[in-house]
Amino acid sequence: MTSAPATPADQVTVRVPAKVNVQLAVGPPRPDGFHDLANVFLAVGLYDEITATRAEGAERLELTCSGPDASLVPLDDSNLAARAATRLAAHHNLRPDVRLHISKDIPVAGGMAGGSADAAGALLACDELWGTATPREELLAICAELGSDVPFPLVGGAALGEGRGERLTPLPVGGTFHWVFATADGGLATPAVYREFDRLTGGRAPEPAPSAHLLAALADGDVTALAATLANDLQPAALSLRPSLRDTLDAGTGAGALAALVSGSGPTCAFLAADADAAELIAKALAASGTCRTARVAASPAPGAEVLR
Ligand code: C5P
Repeated sequence: MTSAPATPADQVTVRVPAKVNVQLAVGPPRPDGFHDLANVFLAVGLYDEITATRAEGAERLELTCSGPDASLVPLDDSNLAARAATRLAAHHNLRPDVRLHISKDIPVAGGMAGGSADAAGALLACDELWGTATPREELLAICAELGSDVPFPLVGGAALGEGRGERLTPLPVGGTFHWVFATADGGLATPAVYREFDRLTGGRAPEPAPSAHLLAALADGDVTALAATLANDLQPAALSLRPSLRDTLDAGTGAGALAALVSGSGPTCAFLAADADAAELIAKALAASGTCRTARVAASPAPGAEVLR
C-alpha cells in the first residue's frame, strides 16, 4: 500500500442530485434475481453534498451525516458512500484514510436514489481529494458494481438505463420540468417492492422497452406530452405494500398536478406541474392535505455530480 499522492486540496465537496424515474419498465426476474429495465432517469434539483477530508493515519474511514433525516442514514460499513470510497481506494491501492460527511437533503429510502447519489458523490470527491484522476469509464464501472442506480447521479441530466439500470445512454431534454415530491413516513425496501412486483405479475412481465412518445416528450420539453406518458411498473407493487400512497397521489392530482406517480420503488410520490407557480401551489396543498410528511418543489433536468469550488 502506498500513501495518496499529494494534491493542493485537503478537503473536497461534491454536490450530487436526486432522480425521478419518468419511465420505469420492469421485465421478469432474471436468473441472478435482478430485473431487466427500461429506466428513464431524470435528475432533479434536490441535492446532497458529500465532503471528503484528508485524515492521514486514521485507522479507518470515518463517516458523519447532517440534515433533517440524518438519524435514518446508516453510518456503518453498509453505507454506500463509505463502500464507494473504500472501493476507489482499493482500485488505486491506497488506504481509505478519509473523513466523509454527507449533508443530506434528498429523502432517505424514498425511491429518489439518495444513497446512490451519495455513493457517486463520494467517488468523485475522493478521486479529486486523492488526485487519482480515475478515467470516467472506470468511475462508471465502479458505480455499476456498487448498485444499479449509482452510475446515473454521476452523469445527471436524463438517461436511459438498461440492463439492471446501470448501462446508461444520455438523453436530450428540451426544456425545464417542474415537480413536487411528497415524502412519506418510513421507507420502502427496494427488494421487497420488486418481490411484490413479481407476485403481482406472476413472474411473467413482458420484456421492458423505452416509450418513443416519452423520449420525444422529454426531447421536446413538452410537459403535457410528458404527463401523458409517465409510467412506473413498480407503482402497483408500491401501492400494494403501502395503500395510503393512493391518497397522496389523489391529493396531488386534486391540487392540479398534470400527472402523479410513485418515484422508483417509492414511497416518495412525484407530481408533474405545468410550471413553477403551479408546483408551489400543489406543494402547499399537499402539505396541508395530511397525506404526506413533506412536500418539496424541484426543477429538472439537474446536472450530475460536480465538485464545488
Ligand atoms: O442494484 P441495487 O443494489 O440498488 O438493487 C437493490 C435490489 O433491488 C436488488 O437486490 C434487487 O432485489 C432489486 N433490483 C432488481 N432489479 C434491478 C435493480 C434492483 O430486482 N434492475
